[in-house]
Amino acid sequence: MPPAPISASRKLLAIESSCDETAAAVIDERLCVLSSVVASQTALHVRFGGVVPEVASRAHVERILPVIDEALRQAVVRLEDLSAVAVVTQPGLVGSLLVGLTAAKTLALVLDVPLVAVNHIEAHLFACRMHAGRDLFPAIGLVVSGGHTSLYDCHDPLDFELLGTTIDDAAGEAFDKAAAMLGLGYPGGPSIEVAARGGNPAAYRFPRSFLRDARLEFSFSGLKTSLLYEVAGIPPAAYEPQSLPTSRVADLAASFQEAVVDVLVAKCRQALAARRRQVLCVGGGVAANTRFRQKLQELADNAKVEVVVPPLEWCTDNAAMSAVAWESFHRGRVADDALDVTAGLIRRR
Ligand code: KG4
Ligand code: ZN
Repeated sequence: MPPAPISASRKLLAIESSCDETAAAVIDERLCVLSSVVASQTALHVRFGGVVPEVASRAHVERILPVIDEALRQAVVRLEDLSAVAVVTQPGLVGSLLVGLTAAKTLALVLDVPLVAVNHIEAHLFACRMHAGRDLFPAIGLVVSGGHTSLYDCHDPLDFELLGTTIDDAAGEAFDKAAAMLGLGYPGGPSIEVAARGGNPAAYRFPRSFLRDARLEFSFSGLKTSLLYEVAGIPPAAYEPQSLPTSRVADLAASFQEAVVDVLVAKCRQALAARRRQVLCVGGGVAANTRFRQKLQELADNAKVEVVVPPLEWCTDNAAMSAVAWESFHRGRVADDALDVTAGLIRRR
């Protein structure tokens, strides 16, 4: 390979392996994404209807080095051109996180560059800042994915105050389980969205938890149970999801999606008002949902606030959003070789 051009801006390699995507990206100090490579494991988990932690960590082991090589190749950057290595250390599946951490620690040690820890939640919301191309904080942040449904008052990119979270399922998890009940494929969010296209969102009036409640919390288990009762009766009887008529599935999917989206948007509106914020940042896989994006645009227009939602490839897990590591780097928050992973979220506030 010919020598890479040396540009003035320093470059960081970011590694993400918190769940079932093995990802690496090269981002320069001006937050330009020079490459972003994501190896999805969806095909491995489809037959289980969800992510199997042991399968995920084994797949990360196989993929991590090719993914890093590919990110460097696409960025036309050599290992010795890197000024830092960043890695997501929380929250996530411990076995999966450890694969990324081991790779990152080894590279930082060998290259003798700083190691920077990244919080996956902060990264999801930093994707909004990357997309906007300018500072957005303070802002209300909603992270809505397969593992999280949480609202934050984001004082700055590294200082989030938790306002409320789900008391049961995450919204993405609810989509995944609803899809299984309807005989739709995994992951459930995209397949519900596709099935809902021909459906009537008002066909079924599913519950919307805490809608008239000042609490900034979410609950999706009642909604899930209502869907089950609708398809399987009360008490639920055995049924064959594949035998549900297509038009019924479309109406159920559209009504279910509408209920989830209504609650998410309403809680964002409440949080904006409660904290008197003018900017809303939304991140995580569920932010890829078209109906949700439409309703967020309506919120922006009606409430006269700025709503920032990243492009689809930055909603689902990726390493480009770990550009938030530059914020830590500039504040001198670099890690040492005792850095470890954490399954849950360590709250700063
Ligand atoms: O952020 P992400 O890639 O991984 C986690 O950190 O969980 O989010 C994955 C979740 C899955 O539950 C998936 O069903 C959901 O995001 N999702 C969607 C859509 N695309 C992905 N949910 C609704 N509509 C979508 N278009
Ligand atoms: Zn995520």
